[in-house]
Amino acid sequence: MRIVRTVEELRALLKPERLAERTIGLVPTMGAFHAGHRSLMERAVVANDVAVVSLFVNPTQFGPSEDLGAYPRDEARDAEIAAAAGVDLLFAPPVEEVYPDGFATTVRVGGVSEPLEGAHRPGHFDGVATVVAKLLNMVGPDVAYFGQKDAQQALVIRRLVRDLNIPARIEICPIVRERDGLAMSSRNVYLGAEDRARAVALRRALTAAEQAVAAGERDAAAVSAIARTALAQHAVEPEYVALVGADTLAPIERIDGEDVLLAVAARVGPARLIDNVILSTTDGAPQTA
Ligand code: PAF
Repeated sequence: MRIVRTVEELRALLKPERLAERTIGLVPTMGAFHAGHRSLMERAVVANDVAVVSLFVNPTQFGPSEDLGAYPRDEARDAEIAAAAGVDLLFAPPVEEVYPDGFATTVRVGGVSEPLEGAHRPGHFDGVATVVAKLLNMVGPDVAYFGQKDAQQALVIRRLVRDLNIPARIEICPIVRERDGLAMSSRNVYLGAEDRARAVALRRALTAAEQAVAAGERDAAAVSAIARTALAQHAVEPEYVALVGADTLAPIERIDGEDVLLAVAARVGPARLIDNVILSTTDGAPQTA
């Protein structure tokens, strides 16, 4: 596996692959790899001729009071994991390569970037959309892979790619979980033992809501209350528990027909965690994302 620092070198390496009509898969990441990242890499490796992983802790998607400085960084460990997964190129640029002096462009996706995470983390999705647009332009992949854990990010990126006619297919891969149900996240390393035990509350809340829907509950407020009760049982106070259209993120009142995204965000000790599930009633049963 080659480690590449500059866009020039990246393009020089990928040009012959493209000319030979070999397919390129990209997994954009901020490093601190876990099994969720590995599943995206493995997908990119099996489905493409060339698998590229970008590793860049993007400063523009962190708010002023967020954890940019503390964000876990261990490039040597990440490189080993990517190489073991069969990745061909690890693109790990320095900040100046992505945001050179005088950088003055922001990509803002309206609509789906506004509620939920957008409301709680102002500017976050501008940073995500800007860096993802840049990474897609730098790498020029046929397919780019993202995780369903960041369900809203996935919608923002789909919208971005459609609106700007970026010729890449976006594939969203299932959430990977710890044995007790906690969604894999680079931020889980912030959790001490006590908070780690409480963190399972997010998954428990989603499961309780799913079970209520499977038992016939269709009222969004009632389902939300069930999820909140499960969180409270672990002394977890949510930032939000939202039932919204899975494609639009518009609030819904009843779970009927269209797929519904149940999304939860909560601070557990030092870690801000998010999780979600898609509730579908069209085949009579809810589906786990
Ligand atoms: O999901 C992430 O790790 C980041 O938001 C992404 C997509 C790599 C952009 O920095």
